[in-house]
Amino acid sequence: MIFLVFVLFSILSSLVCSEVLSPSHNYNVTLPEPNAPYVAGQMLPISYTLPDDTNLPNLLQLSVLFTTQEPTLNFTDIVITSNADISQGFSFRRTHNTYVYYEHQLSYAIPNNTLPGNYIVLFVDAVSKSNTSVPILVRPYAAPVTTIPTNPNKARPSGGGSIFATHNNEANTKSSSQYMIIVSVACCLLLSL
Ligand SMILES: *[C@@H]1O[C@H](CO)[C@@H](O)[C@H](O)[C@H]1NC(C)=O
Ligand SMILES: *[C@@H]1O[C@H](CO)[C@@H](O)[C@H](O)[C@H]1NC(C)=O
Ligand SMILES: *[C@@H]1O[C@H](CO)[C@@H](O)[C@H](O)[C@H]1NC(C)=O
Ligand SMILES: *[C@@H]1O[C@H](CO)[C@@H](O)[C@H](O)[C@H]1NC(C)=O
Repeated sequence: MIFLVFVLFSILSSLVCSEVLSPSHNYNVTLPEPNAPYVAGQMLPISYTLPDDTNLPNLLQLSVLFTTQEPTLNFTDIVITSNADISQGFSFRRTHNTYVYYEHQLSYAIPNNTLPGNYIVLFVDAVSKSNTSVPILVRPYAAPVTTIPTNPNKARPSGGGSIFATHNNEANTKSSSQYMIIVSVACCLLLSL
């Protein structure tokens, strides 16, 4: 049991802590998670870290693309940004022990009509002429499900109590995923000590 918990923690923390280093070492990609699934029509979180270097504007000019290597997906590259923010303002400043770095976040809405499959979030640095690619999996678009009854006066079959069951399930799923996040963040912090 303890072993299982340990394995689970390791998997979770490796998922949360994973970062992809750029060849030039002028930035790291912290999101999206490599090989993680994301859903068409939903937000794709993007996050990258920058070193504390006043010369950075001369070393880095970053664009972010959404692309794929699978021809069957019939996909035209999308430019998420052609000039990613690399500013070193106070609000982007982070510290880890004594190490100072900067963190920027973007969020890209994956188009609803994106075919499911393997895609790549590609970071292109025009100065070092090197790329960092993060593979991700896109799952099919799912229309949001409405569970709330629109007309409360409408007669309901005797099985109407199932609506409460649905609500309970939702609450459980939500709190367990929140628990997972808290646990993995805790692991992450422990591992990084
Ligand atoms: C990128 O990651 C490497 C390895 O974890 C670390 O040494 C470096 O400081 C990181 N750089 C930034 C800007 O986060
Ligand atoms: C590929 O996409 C283009 C434009 O979206 C469309 O015209 C074409 O029919 C598609 N080809 C296939 C094989 O689906
Ligand atoms: C994608 O789906 C969402 C939710 O159903 C909807 O609000 C949005 O307008 C759709 N976007 C497009 C481009 O079809
Ligand atoms: C980086 O990606 C861009 C856009 O796909 C491509 O044109 C370029 O050749 C790539 N450069 C390297 C070094 O792979």
